[in-house]
Amino acid sequence: MNEDAPLKSFVIAVDGPAASGKGTIATGLGKAFSLPVLDTGLLYRCVGVLVKKAGESLDDEGSAAAAAALLTADQLDDPALRTRAAGELASRVAVHPRVRDALLDFQRTFARQEGGAVLDGRDIGTVIAPDASAKLFVTASPEVRAERRWKQLKAQGERVSLKDVLADIRRRDARDGGRDAAPMKPAADAALLDTSEMTIDHAADAARRIVEAARAKWLSSQ
Ligand code: C5P
Repeated sequence: MNEDAPLKSFVIAVDGPAASGKGTIATGLGKAFSLPVLDTGLLYRCVGVLVKKAGESLDDEGSAAAAAALLTADQLDDPALRTRAAGELASRVAVHPRVRDALLDFQRTFARQEGGAVLDGRDIGTVIAPDASAKLFVTASPEVRAERRWKQLKAQGERVSLKDVLADIRRRDARDGGRDAAPMKPAADAALLDTSEMTIDHAADAARRIVEAARAKWLSSQ
């Protein structure tokens, strides 16, 4: 694969912090534009869970990179990846540059598939697909995100307090935004979408409108 070749198909990059609504938005965009969707957070969650299962240290970059290099798509359906603990493990291994490098090809191959794709994560618009045709950076206040994630976790059967979920969110924001390797940040050309005051349907509609405009521009440039 030539990683420097420009993207020829319509790629949508959706970035943002935990529980901002980016996952639901990405899924909605996939349906609206008939594009496959990759939740790239699952890759990091899977690496974190594998390192932990193997009894290795999350700070050991070599072990985490080795797990990342062996990762396959069929491992991403495991419901255990959706837990609160897996989110924390993910952000611990995501700081390692060699882990990020090992996951790069998988993500870029997905982005470059014929017909286009939607990817959601933290560094899609900045590192994975910097020439994506539509870029969104989805945010919401930490309090709103904590409440959303708390409800989700409760529905999954996890017992955790709202206060602890808010602390998780703040810790992950600081780690994801403060790391040296591909820190979470909006791409310079990303549309910012603050979903704090929006229902998820409203947010999905707003995202679709932004992407429709980007698609019209992209089509006229083809
Ligand atoms: O999106 P999700 O909450 O599932 O991501 C879990 C963790 O994986 C994030 O907190 C972040 O540390 C890491 N991640 C990343 N880059 C991505 C996607 C996720 O660093 N593209």
